[in-house]
Amino acid sequence: MAEFDISRHVGRLDETPHRVGEVAALHQVELLDPEGRTIADCDEDDARSVHFVARSADRLVGYVQYDPEANRLRQMIVVKDLRGGKLGRTLVERVRDESRRRGQKELRVHAWTGSIDFYRRVEFEAAGEVHADDRVPWQAMMLR
Ligand SMILES: CC(C)(COP(=O)(O)OP(=O)(O)OC[C@H]1O[C@@H](n2cnc3c(N)ncnc32)[C@H](O)[C@@H]1OP(=O)(O)O)[C@@H](O)C(=O)NCCC(=O)NCCS
Repeated sequence: MAEFDISRHVGRLDETPHRVGEVAALHQVELLDPEGRTIADCDEDDARSVHFVARSADRLVGYVQYDPEANRLRQMIVVKDLRGGKLGRTLVERVRDESRRRGQKELRVHAWTGSIDFYRRVEFEAAGEVHADDRVPWQAMMLR
């Protein structure tokens, strides 16, 4: 398994790496917002979130954020060539630990339908129907 260095960032948007450089590039290429929002529309969510940025040998290889207001894991992504190497699982664990430290017993995610099987493997359960009408179909899931 590759070695990952995961850093944690809290604070206003301009103090996090979320919108700059490699992270933003990853999201623009691959991560569409289910409701069709642009990255710029997400300012408010991002400013209150905890950001986890994964690097391997100084290359950005993954990203996820925890939104404490919604108690939700959001914006999860791992670069294609490292998928299947447990980074996604590790990022989920970091977010789960963050939510537990904040007194939460559960953690939510709005999973793209293409990632539902991944979330099942890391012990999320479906919590509701698939929302098929949005730009990207998704399903609410819960980790207890
Ligand atoms: C979903 C994603 C983050 C998973 O990252 P990853 O680093 O490949 O995941 P891991 O290697 O940690 O996988 C953890 C487990 O899930 C399994 N898994 C991963 N992707 C899977 C898939 N698509 N279907 C079924 N199982 C999957 C792995 O086999 C592994 O199982 P194990 O630990 O029991 O052996 C990655 O595929 C990705 O970035 N996808 C595109 C963006 C996306 O869909 N984000 C989610 C938006 S809600």
